[in-house]
Amino acid sequence: MTDQPSSLDNPEYPLELSAPTMRAMVEQAMARIVPHIESLPEQPASDTTGGEALALSLREPIPRQGPAFAPLFDEVFRVTRTSFTASGPGYLAYIPGGGVFHTAVADLIADAINRYVGVWAAAPGLAQLEANVVRWFCDMVGYPESAGGFLTSGGSFATLSAVVTARRRHLPEDFLRGTIYTSDQVHHSVHKAALLAGFPTANVRSVPTDDDFRIRLDALADHIAGDRQEGYQPFLIVGSAGTTNTGAVDDLTGLADLAERENMWFHADAAYGGFFMLTDRGRQGLAGLERADSLSLDPHKGLFVPYGTGSLLVKDRNTLVQAHSVSADYMPTLQDNADLVDFCEISPELSRPFRGLGVWLPIKMHGIEVFAQALDEKLDLSQWITNQLEQLEGLEILAHPQLTVTAFRVMRPGWSLDESNRATRSLLDAVNRRRRVYLTGTMLDDRFVIRICILSFRTHLDRMVMCYEDIVAGLEAL
Ligand SMILES: Cc1ncc(COP(=O)(O)O)c(C=O)c1O
Repeated sequence: MTDQPSSLDNPEYPLELSAPTMRAMVEQAMARIVPHIESLPEQPASDTTGGEALALSLREPIPRQGPAFAPLFDEVFRVTRTSFTASGPGYLAYIPGGGVFHTAVADLIADAINRYVGVWAAAPGLAQLEANVVRWFCDMVGYPESAGGFLTSGGSFATLSAVVTARRRHLPEDFLRGTIYTSDQVHHSVHKAALLAGFPTANVRSVPTDDDFRIRLDALADHIAGDRQEGYQPFLIVGSAGTTNTGAVDDLTGLADLAERENMWFHADAAYGGFFMLTDRGRQGLAGLERADSLSLDPHKGLFVPYGTGSLLVKDRNTLVQAHSVSADYMPTLQDNADLVDFCEISPELSRPFRGLGVWLPIKMHGIEVFAQALDEKLDLSQWITNQLEQLEGLEILAHPQLTVTAFRVMRPGWSLDESNRATRSLLDAVNRRRRVYLTGTMLDDRFVIRICILSFRTHLDRMVMCYEDIVAGLEAL
């Protein structure tokens, strides 16, 4: 197998690799990728020991000359070992991502052909493949024909565009009296989006939640009324279709009714929960999602594709044009046929990666049913582990799964909050030390809890049995 430095390929134009070198690079990469993926179940669920020393050891000035590529690949895989194994079956922390291999291949193709999909005219067929993906998502949530959207780098970016779209739709250019309402459980990307969109941080109102961590509609209505009296301009309600803390789903129908009555924009953060719409149970739990004016939905969560693909959908695509369209003389002619989309007209980006292929390929290869079944399995696993934990003395479940998050703590009769928090932290450390699963904690009010979030396509019952065994062992050792 050739493993020559690329500079030997063609001394005159060294960046233009020869066919054998291109093949060798992919083969050499594959020779490392396949064993890496096959070993994921045996890799520690997380190991970042020595991370700082490793990071510092990698600092270097810009290279003037390059070595052969194989040692560079080795370096990348060596460095990879110090990390959360976010694509492995034991990663039950935060919101697990995925990493289906299909998308890695799609991205290789997309990057190798490097066509321009920001404007329709530059690659009509490829732009249409991405438009198909957006349309499939719209159909999945029950959006009408007037809906539209685009793929983003993730949920945070989608929320930023949603806030700007809502602002353009409901507020004047001088928008600093505009206020945004969301629960005290909402993902912090909403606060960041508001900040980036130019709102004072205090204009994001945090509304209390009920015992199931859902926004309290009565408190929300009171807040809006009070703000109107004080001369604010309430314009946006952000509901959660699956919170990060506990997977809580707000009363989306109630929020939609309230937003309609108040003439406000209703955005649903469905970054984590949205793809459960593919399942019967998810559709029941997420009833009302289709009434949101906009929603964010992360394929790099619920569709298991690698990090880097989120999406924003809006019920009326014209609102996206109003918020994002800016023209320039040097641009090619944009489409006036509503069926043909120029993504640069409805989104913040101009040049950007061809994200659509990475979603299109796995769905086309398997059909959507396979994804629905995988998500159904996660709902079952979440119920299974919760049932097991309920049998354990000294554990208190504070959040039963509304989707696939369970939150619990160690609590014994007569214990103070501090004792419970300390023991729960110790249990979390003990479980993670075994490295078969990686769990993270969070605060629910002043109660420290351990969360189990199941979303990886690689997590199955065998791993949840390990998770249960490690919790039992950790409890016994407390
Ligand atoms: C509920 C929720 N919303 C939004 C986000 C932000 O998404 P991203 O990390 O893709 O920017 C996350 C991330 O985990 C999330 O869990």
